Amino acid sequence: KRLILIGPPGSGKGTQSPIIKDEYCLCHLATGDMLRAAVAAKTPLGIKAKEAMDKGELVSDDLVVGIIDEAMKKPSCQKGFILDGFPRTVVQAEKLDEMLQKQGAKIDKVLNFAIDDAILEERITGRWIHPSSGRTYHTKFAPPKVPGVDDVTGEPLIQRKDDTAAVLKSRLEAFHRQTEPVIGYYKNKGAVAELHAEKSPKEVTAELGFLLRQNS
Ligand code: AP5
Ligand code: ZN
Repeated sequence: KRLILIGPPGSGKGTQSPIIKDEYCLCHLATGDMLRAAVAAKTPLGIKAKEAMDKGELVSDDLVVGIIDEAMKKPSCQKGFILDGFPRTVVQAEKLDEMLQKQGAKIDKVLNFAIDDAILEERITGRWIHPSSGRTYHTKFAPPKVPGVDDVTGEPLIQRKDDTAAVLKSRLEAFHRQTEPVIGYYKNKGAVAELHAEKSPKEVTAELGFLLRQNS
């Protein structure tokens, strides 16, 4: 399967991805995670991306299209992939179409994590992550067994630099202005399925499973 997850910051894309990834043996391509790793390693890409990310603005289309083009060539992605956080502009969606056309492949489903903006601040400001595995926790909704510590490795958890109420405002603005049109782009192709992303993580997982089993 080739899936796209679209939704605002905190809508649950990164929480649900590992679950469907394991169930369907897909690779999980999260541009945000890849960019954060590049920033942490101070690679040329990371240096170029950092400023926009800190402000909650989008990184340039050329940079992220390059990352995805490279990542999709990996053998582990040949059976299928989950795109989490890409495409985020109509230009990125058009470039993705070109890349897929070359491989004779197409997107099976676009999952739209529909949710009210008002819920997102609490989700974002309570998030803690384990950077090397991508595991995500929440102080209230998904607390780790020991506060500030990863359940599996015992390593420390961190908070994302852009997970503040102020930066969330710009991220939401970018979502509505630049990413919402991408949902329209795929609606015209008839590939979009809506999720009730305000429900509990388990309920969202169940809904996802139901949507993915349809006509597959
Ligand atoms: P990115 O990392 O993609 O961030 P985002 O889109 O803002 O999404 P988040 O990771 O914040 O949300 P999520 O939906 O994954 O939420 P999660 O599941 O963790 O991008 C970061 C930056 O990189 C961008 O601002 C941009 O600068 C750049 N970038 C990335 N891709 C780009 C692109 N294509 N083009 C240009 N620039 C790009 O959940 C959040 C919290 O809520 C967690 O604590 C979780 O435990 C909790 N939670 C999850 N689900 C539920 C639930 N159902 N109920 C209660 N709590 C829940
Ligand atoms: Zn995420």
